Amino acid sequence: MAALPQSQPHLTELRWREHGERVLEFQREVYERNFPGFHVGPAFLVDYERQLRSALRNTYEGLWVIEEGSRAQAFVWAAIITTLVDEKLGYIKNVYVTPERRHLGWGAVLTRHAEDWMRRLGVFKSALDVTVENETAVSLYARCGYHVQRYRMEKDLQAPCPQPEEEEL
Ligand SMILES: CC(C)(COP(=O)(O)OP(=O)(O)OC[C@H]1O[C@@H](n2cnc3c(N)ncnc32)[C@H](O)[C@@H]1OP(=O)(O)O)[C@@H](O)C(=O)NCCC(=O)NCCS
Repeated sequence: MAALPQSQPHLTELRWREHGERVLEFQREVYERNFPGFHVGPAFLVDYERQLRSALRNTYEGLWVIEEGSRAQAFVWAAIITTLVDEKLGYIKNVYVTPERRHLGWGAVLTRHAEDWMRRLGVFKSALDVTVENETAVSLYARCGYHVQRYRMEKDLQAPCPQPEEEEL
């Protein structure tokens, strides 16, 4: 993609001045779709902007967009993290493609690009979180080779955990 004329869609590093506002706008759909009931408000956007700006200064965070002209039409954010069991783990934090550019393979292009960056930094495993109901995203990641490794289970605490009759604690 990088060799195409600038008016053609091409993948490039996120530049805050040109792409920042637009990438923030993307987050409304990302978060409201993946966290039903959650509303993206001003406080969220301030915090997200702070996180994005900080990531732009961090070698272990990678942010790219697919732009057309100078307009961002897709976005990916990846990081190299350390956990108790993985000294170096690639983590895909966010993938977004504008509705009018979906089903063109851009989601896969962005994911592949983030993974290539991880490999260049000596990382050999990548992980991500995705909402079960987000079938398009689940399918994208499955096509890219991701598989379910563990479940994160949630419950509404108004529903009690059933107790066996004989339990007397
Ligand atoms: C999830 C998301 C990033 C996918 O982006 P995308 O660019 O449409 O992804 P792709 O084009 O690579 O794949 C999507 C589908 O298009 C199909 N496709 C890819 N290239 C195609 C082409 N040239 N012609 C026709 N279909 C094509 C894929 O097979 C895939 O089909 P499937 O859903 O049946 O498996 C996008 O839907 C999105 O931004 N959603 C909202 C934000 C979000 O929820 N992000 C995920 C957070 S975890």
